[in-house]
Amino acid sequence: MTLSTADLAYVRDVVRERSAIVLDDSKRYLVESRLAPIARQQGASNLGDLVAQLRADRSGHLRDVVVDAMTTNETSFFRDPRLWGALERSLLPSMIEQRRSQQALNFWCGAASSGQEPYTLAMLLVERFPQVVRDWNVRIIATDISADMLGRAAAGRFTQLEVNRGLAAPRLVRHFVRDGSHWRISDQLRQMVEFRSLNLVTPWPFVPQVDVLFLRNVLIYFEHRTKQEILARCRTVLRPDGHLILGTSETTLNIDDSYERVVTDGATTYRPR
Ligand SMILES: C[S@@+](CC[C@H](N)C(=O)[O-])C[C@H]1O[C@@H](n2cnc3c(N)ncnc32)[C@H](O)[C@@H]1O
Repeated sequence: MTLSTADLAYVRDVVRERSAIVLDDSKRYLVESRLAPIARQQGASNLGDLVAQLRADRSGHLRDVVVDAMTTNETSFFRDPRLWGALERSLLPSMIEQRRSQQALNFWCGAASSGQEPYTLAMLLVERFPQVVRDWNVRIIATDISADMLGRAAAGRFTQLEVNRGLAAPRLVRHFVRDGSHWRISDQLRQMVEFRSLNLVTPWPFVPQVDVLFLRNVLIYFEHRTKQEILARCRTVLRPDGHLILGTSETTLNIDDSYERVVTDGATTYRPR
């Protein structure tokens, strides 16, 4: 199934307007291949028909479905092991020390995809800082624009392939139970994470002041100005001594110079100056 140039431009505009995701010319094949299953579901005989339905979509539901399909949700448990090692050995212990009088820590994963990132954090906390988990007020808020991914994340069910990526056998056995051909995360870990829908380019009404903001592997999909706007808003929710964590190929440098790049125990984080 192929798209006319005008229809491709229309889809790109819809996706950009609603999510800020930029689909450049090189993404034609990706757009077509992700629209094809939606066309079948919608009973459209080709992509042109589907785009006609999209243009006529009053409720906005089909637009949401199309935007959801254009998100790239690649993730894994303990993605970038060097970061998680530094969190375990250095960043979390020093943060816990600093918050000992308040006994409260807030974490926000702003592009949580299918949940591996917030669950990795919950696993580390339970394994290494059980007393903090038990006695402190620890919140892990996990948000994403994709309703599909949020549903999967909240269910906490993962395929064999997904658990094979990043989870050593002892961790799998400790934190998951078999559920048919899948693995289900323990109730304790599932209940530690609050999953909510949030588009990074619209207001963030329920996001509290956070100690660590994970915004990994999402800025890459946005243009320069959108990255600037989001990074400026991140400063408004990040505690003055908090850490912003980006993906390994992402940076604030030359985008927002009010962050200081800090390397701790081999991991890069960004802190408000
Ligand atoms: C590649 S995944 C990153 C997952 C995880 N942070 C990691 O690094 O493993 C990117 C996620 O960003 C989400 N996303 C894209 N645009 C978004 C937006 N405007 N608001 C919120 N989430 C968005 C996608 O739905 C996707 O789940």
